[in-house]
Amino acid sequence: MSTAPALPGFVRTIAPWMVACEARLAEVVAGYAPAVSAPAADTLSAGGKRVRPMLVFCASARRGEDRDALVAAAAAVELVHMATLVHDDLIDGATTRRGRPTVARAQGAEVAVRVGDFLFARAFAELTRSRSPQAVQALADAALDLSRGEMDQQAAAHDLALTEAAYLDRCRRKTAALFSVACRLGALVSGAGPEAAGRLAAFGQHVGLAFQIFDDILDIAGEPAATGKRRGTDLLGGTVTLPVILALREEPGLALGIRAAGTDGAAVEDLCDRLAVHRGVALARDRALEYVRLAREAVLDGPLDGADAEALLEIADGVVDRYS
Ligand code: IPE
Ligand code: IPE
Ligand code: MG
Ligand code: MG
Repeated sequence: MSTAPALPGFVRTIAPWMVACEARLAEVVAGYAPAVSAPAADTLSAGGKRVRPMLVFCASARRGEDRDALVAAAAAVELVHMATLVHDDLIDGATTRRGRPTVARAQGAEVAVRVGDFLFARAFAELTRSRSPQAVQALADAALDLSRGEMDQQAAAHDLALTEAAYLDRCRRKTAALFSVACRLGALVSGAGPEAAGRLAAFGQHVGLAFQIFDDILDIAGEPAATGKRRGTDLLGGTVTLPVILALREEPGLALGIRAAGTDGAAVEDLCDRLAVHRGVALARDRALEYVRLAREAVLDGPLDGADAEALLEIADGVVDRYS
C-alpha cells in the first residue's frame, strides 16, 4: 500500500487561510462578462501552487482581526500573478499552462489580453479591502516592475551574449518583485515594524530569484506532467536563461546548436535533453541554492514581528528541486 507523503508542517498551519483565499479568489473572478470571467475562472480552477498567497500568510502574524485584509492581500497577489501568466503566455507563445492549453492558445490573443486586464483590475479592487493605500501602492510598484521585466526579456530575446547580471536584473523585476511584495503585504497588514518588514521583503526577493532560476532549469529539464508546462518554451521563444548562459560559458560552441535549433520543436527537444545533463544546469542550481541561503539569512537575522519564521524557512527550502 502506498502512503501519500506527509504535508510540510506550514501547509497544515495555514490551511484555513488558504481555504479562505481560494473561496475569495473564486468570488472575485465570478459574475462579470462571461467572455472574461469564464477563462479567468478556468485558469483559477486549473490549480497552481499558490506560493505567493502562502508567503502573504506566513509573513504575517495571522491575527483574527486582520483576517479580511490578509485574505484580500493574498487573493490580490495571486490575481496579479495570474494576470501576468495569461499575458506572459501570449508573449512567450506558450502552449500549456497548469496542464491546460493557455488562454492565448485556446482563445486567441485578444481574449488573452482582455482576461489579463480583467485580472489586474480585479486584483487592485480586491486589495482596497485591506484599507491600506500603502499596500495598494506596493502592489502597483510590483506590477510595474513585472511589466518592465517582461519588456527587458523581449528586448534581450535571442541575445546569447546576455550577461548573468542582466539576467538577474530581469528576474528581480519579473518574478522576485511579486514574491517580495507578497511578504511585505503580510507584514504591512499585521503592523510589523519597518525593520522586520524590510527583512521579510528581502526574504521574498531572494526566494523569488531562486524560484525563477529553478523555473528556468525546469523549462529545460522539467517533466511536463509535473510542471504543467511544455519543455523548451524559453528556447523556442528566444528567452536566454541562466542555465543557458552558464552552459555557454563552459562550452561556447553550444551557441551554434542553439541557433540551429531555432523554432524547430524536435530540435529544441533534443537540445533540452543535451542541456539537461550539462554542467550549466548544475551551476545554475547552485546559484539558486545560494539565493535560498540568503533568504534563510534574512529570516534568521532578527525579530520578525509575528511572522512565521519556521514556515518561511520551509518555503525557502522547498523552492529548489520542488518536483523531486
Ligand atoms: C510561474 O509561476 C511563473 C514564474 C514566475 C516562474 P508559478 O510556478 O508559481 O506558477 P503556478 O501559479 O504554480 O501555476
Ligand atoms: C515568469 O517567467 C513570467 C512571469 C513573471 C509572468 P516565465 O516566462 O519563465 O514563466 P513561465 O515559465 O511561463 O511560467
Ligand atoms: Mg512564460
Ligand atoms: Mg519559465
